[in-house]
Amino acid sequence: MATNPRADGPSRDDSPALTTPFSAQSTAREVIDGVNLSGRRAVVTGGASGLGAETVRALATAGAQVTIATRRPGSAEPLVEELAAVDGAGPVHAEPLDLSDPTSVDAFVRGWHGRLDILVANAGIMALPTRTLAPNGWEMQLATNYLGHFALASGLHEALREAGSARIVVVSSGAHLGDPFDFVDPHFEDRPYDPWAAYGQSKSADVLLAVGARRWAADGITANALNPGYILTGLQRHVDDDTMRAFGVMDDEGRVRPLSYYKTPEQGAATSVLLAASPLLEGVTGRYFEDNQEAPTVRGDQSETGGVAAHAIDPDSADRLWDYGTAAIRATTT
Ligand SMILES: NC(=O)c1ccc[n+]([C@@H]2O[C@H](COP(=O)([O-])OP(=O)(O)OC[C@H]3O[C@@H](n4cnc5c(N)ncnc54)[C@H](OP(=O)(O)O)[C@@H]3O)[C@@H](O)[C@H]2O)c1
Repeated sequence: MATNPRADGPSRDDSPALTTPFSAQSTAREVIDGVNLSGRRAVVTGGASGLGAETVRALATAGAQVTIATRRPGSAEPLVEELAAVDGAGPVHAEPLDLSDPTSVDAFVRGWHGRLDILVANAGIMALPTRTLAPNGWEMQLATNYLGHFALASGLHEALREAGSARIVVVSSGAHLGDPFDFVDPHFEDRPYDPWAAYGQSKSADVLLAVGARRWAADGITANALNPGYILTGLQRHVDDDTMRAFGVMDDEGRVRPLSYYKTPEQGAATSVLLAASPLLEGVTGRYFEDNQEAPTVRGDQSETGGVAAHAIDPDSADRLWDYGTAAIRATTT
């Protein structure tokens, strides 16, 4: 471990930032080249498409048994079949999970038996144009990106503990930088709804989830969060054409094309896979990574494009959010 020269602030516990030999261009398979995951059991939410599918490919190819948790298990069939034909790949199958529905999360948890070595909280939705509510009244981005994953991790805690050295990986985003979690009005009941603020706060909550999970360290469970970078996937489906043009990823004819710093899905999934399975991450918990390196702590505002905001790794906020999430889930399931 060496000091990250990019760091301009302390990492969460003031220990040196973790560096790896990998770069923004490294792929998911490269970061775990030579790692044998035979016999390890993994769950990847949203594993049927985009970054989740690449995460599943890399983990299964390294030998892990992977459960793809998706709203539509049928959509995972091509990937399941593809990996069944790969020599040495672990078994892969899909199970239904709708993170915005606590009943569905509960059913997934009840259906899980035995230990769980790796939980990749990858599924997400971005920038729903109008305030949309989950059936129980939660704002949909918060419900899907954070509350559903918090309920899932909490429900699977015993299975993770049983693994002895389990890892939780939470896929956040650089969008967390300008939007701290709003403890007063998380569901936009009183403040005007803003699609990007709702996404950003849910991604701050995701980082805080990883920090709050330090309470499980004695169970051998580590948790880390990450920003995968910019990748064209299904995630942009709710973004209108004007915004896509403003981002520079749509031309006048409506063709979508990546900018030079955009990653391929294989590169975009690399940091998730690094955190999930690399020996370099052994025992590391409560940290935030991007481009396969631990990110420096930054002030946290809209003008910043990298690093982790202080508001997202604040241990007091993480504990407060843990209590908030626990109460929210209890209120909806009783
Ligand atoms: N792409 C980027 O540039 C970028 C940048 C920063 C962060 N991220 C993060 O990366 C993660 C993966 O996104 P992606 O880019 O791979 O987009 P994607 O292809 O749209 O994948 C998102 C996945 O989330 C799943 N999902 C959505 N709502 C769900 C729900 N209620 N319950 C269960 N699963 C649900 C979808 O699966 P089903 O529809 O099959 O259920 C889909 O497979 C997200 O957390 C996203 O915020 C992406």
